[in-house]
Amino acid sequence: MFTKDTLSGKTILITGGGSGLGLAMAKGFAESGANIAICGRTEEKLQKATKEIEEAGESTKAGYYICDVRDHDAVTEMISKIVEDFGSMEGLVNNAAGNFLSASEDLTPGGFKAIVDIVLHGSFNCTHAFGNYLIDNEKEGSILNIVTTYAESTGCAFVLPSACSKAGVLAMTRSLAFEWAEYGIRVNAIAPGPFPTKGAWSRLVPDKLIEKKFINKIPMKRYGEHKELANLATFLMSDMALYMTGESVVIDGGERLQAGQFNFINDLMSRKKLKKAFKAMKPK
Ligand code: HXC
Ligand code: NAP
Repeated sequence: MFTKDTLSGKTILITGGGSGLGLAMAKGFAESGANIAICGRTEEKLQKATKEIEEAGESTKAGYYICDVRDHDAVTEMISKIVEDFGSMEGLVNNAAGNFLSASEDLTPGGFKAIVDIVLHGSFNCTHAFGNYLIDNEKEGSILNIVTTYAESTGCAFVLPSACSKAGVLAMTRSLAFEWAEYGIRVNAIAPGPFPTKGAWSRLVPDKLIEKKFINKIPMKRYGEHKELANLATFLMSDMALYMTGESVVIDGGERLQAGQFNFINDLMSRKKLKKAFKAMKPK
């Protein structure tokens, strides 16, 4: 589906691109011909990732920027520097995030603020700076926000700051998709289900028992592969998706569908036994 030119001519900033899903998307975009800028707070990680990204693309130029997305001035400066270094900027992926498990009554105001600052304010800061650059230069561009499946309607226990922040980012996605359509700026989101990364798993999947329960509630009975997410992101950032804006695409092996009223029956017995039981209920 994608060629080496699918994203050529585009410079894309991926926040938090030094690890996990951000790095997977950065490599995927590089394979499809984009130039890549990544940012984060840890230089060593960014340096190593930049090398990997350059190796992934045939003629990719990659660069890293040490920047805390919570700092609006630093973000604005970073966007100017990227434009100076690469000549232009066409895409932004708001991927940087923070999260941890906590009973909500035990959260400190500082803990709540840390996550809201990274996820919601950080996404706003980058979007605001990038949006202004595009508008001032009468350029079209694309913004992709990485949210979660719990941002849409359920919220989520034990990750309250993240649930509140990601819901805010989703609202930002839809609000700006409408407001900035006339500038030719597309704003979409991806809501990933579970994709194992060191950053997420060390904070959210503490032991094997939870791991087993986690995987068991996914109808496909497997986690997502990083490349699967990168492929979706490549499509959304490419000119193949020029008529898509304000959309949040879920990629989760069906995990979000657990609420279906009779879905639990699937866990009661094997499919063979279930079919037998259903047959016995059928009027003769
Ligand atoms: C309770 C905690 C905490 C924890 C930190 N805090 N960790 N509270 N439980 N486990 C509180 C601290 O006490 C402090 O509050 C405040 O948070 C800030 O802590 P710092 O360590 O000073 O913050 P900082 O260095 O900025 O680090 C931010 C962080 C950290 C979010 C806490 O974990 C981080 O850097 N994370 C980045 C990567 C990450 O989280 N990746 C996972 C994304 S996964 P006080 O009040 O004491 O000052 C994801 C997936 C979702 O989002 C879906 C998965 C399926
Ligand atoms: P990760 O590896 O921990 O990635 C988070 C990245 O963000 C890190 O590279 C981190 O680098 C950077 N970051 C954190 N705070 C920052 C800040 N203040 N300024 C700049 N960069 C910052 O986790 P991941 O699993 O790949 O998550 C990536 C995205 O996917 C997140 O938005 C997450 O919510 C979303 N997501 C993940 C899953 C999953 O199953 N993995 C599921 C749903 C959604 P530094 O710490 O060095 O700054």
